[in-house]
Amino acid sequence: MGLVREKIKTLAKAAGIYSHIKTRKDRTYRRLRDSNLAVHAGIRWIMDIPYRQIRDLSLEIQEAKILEEIQNQMEKEHEKDADYRPGASSPLNLKALYLLCRTLKPETVVETGVASGASSFLILSALERNKKGALHSIDLPPEQWKGTDYACLDQVSLPKGKKPGWLVPPELYSRWNLISGDSRKELPKLLEQIGALDLFYHDAEHTYEAMRREFHTVWPSIRSGGVLVSDDVTWNPAFAEFVQEKKREGCAKRWFGFGMIRKK
Ligand SMILES: C[S@@+](CC[C@H](N)C(=O)[O-])C[C@H]1O[C@@H](n2cnc3c(N)ncnc32)[C@H](O)[C@@H]1O
Repeated sequence: MGLVREKIKTLAKAAGIYSHIKTRKDRTYRRLRDSNLAVHAGIRWIMDIPYRQIRDLSLEIQEAKILEEIQNQMEKEHEKDADYRPGASSPLNLKALYLLCRTLKPETVVETGVASGASSFLILSALERNKKGALHSIDLPPEQWKGTDYACLDQVSLPKGKKPGWLVPPELYSRWNLISGDSRKELPKLLEQIGALDLFYHDAEHTYEAMRREFHTVWPSIRSGGVLVSDDVTWNPAFAEFVQEKKREGCAKRWFGFGMIRKK
């Protein structure tokens, strides 16, 4: 510990306020980690919107109880099948996706990596609230997982008898185009069909090559003001390098393993 900090600690102890300071500091860390402050700050910064709007939208997610529903459904399946590994985006990242969709009001969203469909569920719920937009999701069929780089890096499975995206309720299907295939082939094909997009979410193969390829493939098709988002950006330098390369074309924000870059 630094000399100055040690001195402050000694003085605080002598004044009888050390435990108070320590508790406040612990509480602040806990709040930063658990209470979504990082998410709120990140979305506010990237979307340049007032705090009030973020707070209201946060309440909207709480009231809709989508995160709880996802958790309950996954737990239920886990009780039946102990080998089930959802590999879903974290609740904080799911919340960020919802907030991004509600504030950006995208016409077109593309995601790679569906698995049980937690991120698809949140994105589609936000589009439904916006009353506009469509989500195109690309997911590798489970029978093709074995032997890929992805299978070595991550541990994801579906509950027995369930298909990719099983978490998504049928009432949200009308805005959803679920494509079964490898993003290497399917992503360029899809971009040719849709022309442009407002939001891209990468949560598929987290190798350096695959992440770099997907970022560079979608970036030219992202509309001005649109956002490229990636989960697990700390797994390799692909996102950091991409941001460095594109820093003149967009502004970026990162927290924990979640990265966003918004095109000017
Ligand atoms: C981490 S999971 C996705 C979790 C999901 N985003 C969620 O929040 O529930 C990763 C998914 O990426 C898919 N995937 C891996 N490599 C892929 C590829 N080359 N093309 C398309 N999907 C791929 C796998 O099939 C798997 O379902």
